Amino acid sequence: MQNDIEQTLVLIKPDALKNSLTGYVLSQLSEFHSGLRFAGAKIVHVNQMLAEEHYAEHRGKIFFPSLLAYIMGGIHYADQPWKRRVIALVYQGPGAVLKIRDLSGPTNPHVARDTRPGCVRSLGTVVPLKDAEGKVIGERMDNLIHASATPAEAEREIKLWFRPTDIPPGMRIYQTAVVHEYYYFKDGSLFLQYEPGTICLFAPGDIVWQSDLEAVRLLYQGKEAPCSAAAVAAKYLINAEQESA
Ligand code: GTP
Ligand code: MG
Repeated sequence: MQNDIEQTLVLIKPDALKNSLTGYVLSQLSEFHSGLRFAGAKIVHVNQMLAEEHYAEHRGKIFFPSLLAYIMGGIHYADQPWKRRVIALVYQGPGAVLKIRDLSGPTNPHVARDTRPGCVRSLGTVVPLKDAEGKVIGERMDNLIHASATPAEAEREIKLWFRPTDIPPGMRIYQTAVVHEYYYFKDGSLFLQYEPGTICLFAPGDIVWQSDLEAVRLLYQGKEAPCSAAAVAAKYLINAEQESA
């Protein structure tokens, strides 16, 4: 695998699914238009932990709760929780990040329509956010897709949503490692042995992202790590609930 190959994460968000824009988005991002190849794909019921980790940089902002509700599907499938999904895709190829950002367009759909008519987000919408008294306190941008902004962001995001084994062996560009120990997770904490309610993150012989393994080893020792235990665990909890919340 060449080192100059880039990958990027695309999420087809609940508003795109609800409006049957999936085929349109896939066509726009297709190899014919973008020159990029699929390296991974999955349909994900986004839980609170994954949503919070994905949008960690926006924690504390006025639009954060609505951003979580949006990506978790609660806005577009309020009464149909089983339909709350996003499609997560990894695209691969030279300049993948910028190519997909370009086809996607500006964050704000109104700006997208004004400045880049024809880009994917020009078909999105902006919704006013109101407080209990009906006063407008901000806005929510329903912009149909997510696309990683930089190669570093793409690496963090792909490792958050995908396990190495979700990506064909010849297409993995981030370092992997084979695990020799067990690690379990529950409520933000790590364990070496099974306890009721824990989920198994790693078992001997598993192929995992090397950075996840390093992070978990540091965190278990109580040391600082580049990412949280929740960021490692989120992908192992994807679609793992017994029923849609
Ligand atoms: P993504 O591809 O979704 O990550 O969008 P982006 O990279 O163009 O924007 P960014 O990562 O900064 O923000 C993530 C999401 O938060 C956006 O898609 C918007 O839905 C929302 N968002 C970001 N900035 C603002 C803002 O200033 N106001 C509001 N209302 N929403 C914002
Ligand atoms: Mg972004």
